[in-house]
Amino acid sequence: MLNSTSNTWIQRPAIILVGYMCVGKTTIGKSLAKQLGCTFYDLDWYIEERFRTKVPRIFAEQGEEKFRDMERRMLHEVAEFQNIVLSCGGGTPCFFDNADYMNSIGETFYLKASPETIVRHLAISKGERPLLKGKSHEELFNYISQQIAEREQFYLKAKHIIDVNTLDAEEKVDSVVRKIIDYTT
Ligand code: S3P
Repeated sequence: MLNSTSNTWIQRPAIILVGYMCVGKTTIGKSLAKQLGCTFYDLDWYIEERFRTKVPRIFAEQGEEKFRDMERRMLHEVAEFQNIVLSCGGGTPCFFDNADYMNSIGETFYLKASPETIVRHLAISKGERPLLKGKSHEELFNYISQQIAEREQFYLKAKHIIDVNTLDAEEKVDSVVRKIIDYTT
């Protein structure tokens, strides 16, 4: 980030987005990074690039425990980069000391949505999500509700909470991005 008064480059703490799958972390993160002139990282994409494989494949071939270990290590690796917006996986803050670690390196935002919103987003989402695969509408709703109930204690460790239940139009993405920028400037 360029300091407009002294014309020198200053380092902005990482902006880290957490929340359940399909709440819009990547969409918001990309737009936020563009507006702030930061580099955008999606932790799943970073893992896929570093290990040259896909997240569903890691789950299928090596299991969730191994994935969580890789996820933790890659979180620490990405944290070394400067001026970043990082979108985490839905489970990232819920394992190890990841939530506290994220708070120690940056400004953390919990993008909070209801199970109804998430199921709606999931219907139009393209990504493959191993934990949600092969479930009927009702099973999905019950699974997501239960998982959010278990995970929310970790999501709530974030420094800021942003309601993204109404995130269904371009201008709504912009309004969430503006809110995050207001918190960080
Ligand atoms: C997961 C969320 C996914 C991905 C993996 C596990 C989770 O990321 O990390 O499938 O446990 O919630 P997104 O939240 O980006 O879909």
